[in-house]
Amino acid sequence: MAARLCARHLPLAWLCRRAAQGQGRHYRAALCAELKHPLIIEEMASRPLGPHEVRVDVHFCGVNFADILVCRGQYQETPPLPFIPGMEFSGAVLETGTDVSTVKKGDRVIGVSNLNAMAEECITDQKTLWQVPENVSLQDAAVLPVSYGTAILAVEHRARTQPGETVLVTAAAGATGLAVIDVATNVLQAKVIAAAGSDEKCKLAVQRGAQSSVNYSQGSLKDAVKKLVGSGGVNVAIDMVGGDVFLESVRSLAWEGRIVVLGFAGGSIASLPSNLLLLKNISAMGLYWGRYQHQDFALFSKSLSSALQYCQQGLIHPHTGAVFKLEKVRQHVRNVGQIRLGNNLSNLATLSPIAACLYFFIHILSF
Ligand SMILES: NC(=O)c1ccc[n+]([C@@H]2O[C@H](COP(=O)([O-])OP(=O)(O)OC[C@H]3O[C@@H](n4cnc5c(N)ncnc54)[C@H](OP(=O)(O)O)[C@@H]3O)[C@@H](O)[C@H]2O)c1
Repeated sequence: MAARLCARHLPLAWLCRRAAQGQGRHYRAALCAELKHPLIIEEMASRPLGPHEVRVDVHFCGVNFADILVCRGQYQETPPLPFIPGMEFSGAVLETGTDVSTVKKGDRVIGVSNLNAMAEECITDQKTLWQVPENVSLQDAAVLPVSYGTAILAVEHRARTQPGETVLVTAAAGATGLAVIDVATNVLQAKVIAAAGSDEKCKLAVQRGAQSSVNYSQGSLKDAVKKLVGSGGVNVAIDMVGGDVFLESVRSLAWEGRIVVLGFAGGSIASLPSNLLLLKNISAMGLYWGRYQHQDFALFSKSLSSALQYCQQGLIHPHTGAVFKLEKVRQHVRNVGQIRLGNNLSNLATLSPIAACLYFFIHILSF
């Protein structure tokens, strides 16, 4: 652990010099050397494992909204520079520490790490690895942790969604939104209304299982939802946009409705008039999936095991917007899930802002 922290805090020049000296094994990684600048690819020196650690040969790494925020210095956690971004990956176990008992060399795994996943090699504690069932591909598995872990805890654990209930999800064509649609529809047998910012996104959300959709760039979300479900409202709302979209989602709720706040992709945090909660006995709650890793590891772990199990059973089907090789990280990580600044739509992504995957097709490690 000490060595791990130490490596993360070392200056870039030192890390590169170590790599150039050719000491032991090396691997390539996408490095954030300066905030708001493109990632660079560097060769890094491998370090020895601690007793509980596992070295994984990374095949795929999910690229998420939060990765972009971290690299812009706009995430809750701001790691010291330089750092390797990436919080979820899939791959095969290369080496295990002396006290590792949960996995062995060659096992197919997914892993969660605060950082360091955008690399050909990732070292993590055995606790944060889960075995991938045989019939689940490593590409599908790579995007399960963040999007599906969040979706499962939002609709199952927080909102306690029941079969037949109506779920409104905003930013529905994003990675998390699509995962919410998948889990709510195909696991919980709920009816989903997808709310998104363009007709194209609405179409995708419906193709992925939503029963109906609302394009909230074209008028009031509340009015559109009312047209679909009547004045009764929806039972559950999962909001990732914030601002007016959040307030309209609250106003769309039915008696004893539940709203779960997942994020503020739109950039503004709304204040909630508490009379809205009282009038219809509404519950408003938040979900920060990653925090469960430290506060309630059993629940965190269950969200991942459930995602893998649903995938193995063929209940859910993760959607990946783009798969690209490590060499292309510079172009793609700027584009995927790009944050729109104010109303300046010229900054919009050229790629569909849906879960993307980094694909490490050359494995330079050999044992
Ligand atoms: N709480 C948690 O544990 C947790 C876990 C995962 C994700 N999240 C949060 O959930 C949100 C969505 O994440 P994601 O993984 O689904 O990201 P994504 O795939 O990049 O999708 C983001 C979506 O947000 C919407 N959006 C609205 N305003 C935006 C803006 N100004 N810039 C960019 N996108 C904007 C867009 O949909 P429309 O155009 O349709 O509005 C876009 O499709 C983020 O805020 C993220 O931080 C939270």
